[in-house]
Amino acid sequence: MSWIYPIIWLLCTYDGWSLVVPRLSTPPALHGELESPLYPRPYQSSLSEQWYLSVPVGYQLQLSFIHLDVEPSADCHYDSVTVMYEQKVLGKFCGQENSAEGRGGRQPILSPGNHLRVIFHTDDSKAGPHQHIGFSAFYQAIDIDECSLPDPDDGSGPLCSQICHNTLGSYLCSCRHGYELRPDQRTCMLDCGGGVFTEKEGILTSPLYPLPSPLGLSCRYHISVDPSFTVTLNFTGPFHVESTGQDDSKCFHHWLQVSIPEREPMRLCGDKSPGVIPTQSNSVQLEYRTDSAGLSRGWEMHYTTQRVQCESPGTISHGEVTPSLPQYQYRDYIHVRCDTGYKLMLHGEQIRAYFSVCQINGQWHIPLPECLP
Ligand SMILES: *[C@@H]1O[C@H](CO)[C@@H](O)[C@H](O)[C@H]1NC(C)=O
Repeated sequence: MSWIYPIIWLLCTYDGWSLVVPRLSTPPALHGELESPLYPRPYQSSLSEQWYLSVPVGYQLQLSFIHLDVEPSADCHYDSVTVMYEQKVLGKFCGQENSAEGRGGRQPILSPGNHLRVIFHTDDSKAGPHQHIGFSAFYQAIDIDECSLPDPDDGSGPLCSQICHNTLGSYLCSCRHGYELRPDQRTCMLDCGGGVFTEKEGILTSPLYPLPSPLGLSCRYHISVDPSFTVTLNFTGPFHVESTGQDDSKCFHHWLQVSIPEREPMRLCGDKSPGVIPTQSNSVQLEYRTDSAGLSRGWEMHYTTQRVQCESPGTISHGEVTPSLPQYQYRDYIHVRCDTGYKLMLHGEQIRAYFSVCQINGQWHIPLPECLP
C-alpha cells in the first residue's frame, strides 16, 4: 500500500491543500475516536479543548457522536461542542443525545474536506445537581467519488478528459482505444504511432487505420536510417486523404506531406494511391494533418531500404572496366585498364592507373577515364 502515499501528496500539492493538511511523516489514520476530558466521568468547568481531526487527502471526514451529554442552554451558550471546517461552523451541540435541544445523537456530520476541528467549551459555573459527562465520538474516512464531482471551477475542464475511475482515496484517468494519457495524467491525446523509425524496414499507418482517421490530427513520422541506405516508400492498400477539389494538388484541409531534405515537400491527398516513391534519401519526414471537418479513410505505407547504389559505369572503348557487376553499391571499387597500345587519359592528362569508389551520395568519386592511342 505504500505506493498510495506519493500519489496522495501529489494530489495534495496539486489541489493547493498542502497548507491546510499538516505535513505528517505518517499519513493520517482512516478512523479514530475522541472523548471529552475525564469521560465518562463528569467534565470540569472552564475548559477550552480543541481536536484537529484529519483523514488522508482524497477522503471526506465523517464524525458521529456516540454519546453526548453537555449542559443544555439556549444556543448552547454556556457549554458546547462546536464542529468547524476551516472558518465555517458545521454544528454547535449541547444537551443529551436524542434530546430536543441538540442535534447530537446519531446524525453523522460530513466534512466538506478531509479534516475537521472539534472545540469543547465549558463555562466557569459550578456544576449543578446534574453532572454532565461530556461526549465521545467516532470519525472515519469516507471515500470521495471524484469522478462524479462537478468539473473543477478553474476552467481546466473535467477531471479526466475521457474515462475516470474512482479509487479509494483518489482517482485515475484513462483513455479510449487509440489514445494515450498525456503527462498531466488527465487528458488524452491521439496516439499517432509517430516518432522516429530507424529500422531497415517498417509499416506506418494513419491512426486507427483501417478505420477513418480522427479529425484534428497532427502526426509526425521520421524515417531515419544509416546514411549508406536509401528509403523507398510503398503505399499499400487503399489510400484516401480528403482532397478539396478535382485537382489532387489542392490538398488543403487534409494532407499527408512527404519531406526529403533539400527537396520541395510533396503533399499527397485524394483517393489514388501514390504507390512506390523511391526517395534516394536516408531521411524522410511525413506529416499527416486532418482539420476539424471532412473524412479521410487513411493510408498504409510499407517502407524498405536499399544500400546506396551508383550508376553502372558502362563500357569504355579500347579498355575494360572491372569488376563487372549487375549493380554497384556504396564502397564498391572499379578499375579501368586500356587495351595494348592505348593510354589512360583523365582530364586530358595521362595517368598510370585508375580506380574509383562508389560514394555514400551515390556518385562515383572520379569520372571514367578515356583510353587513347
Ligand atoms: C509494394 O507493395 C506491394 C504490395 O505489398 C508489393 O506487391 C510490391 O512488390 C511492393 N513494391 C516495392 C517496390 O516494394
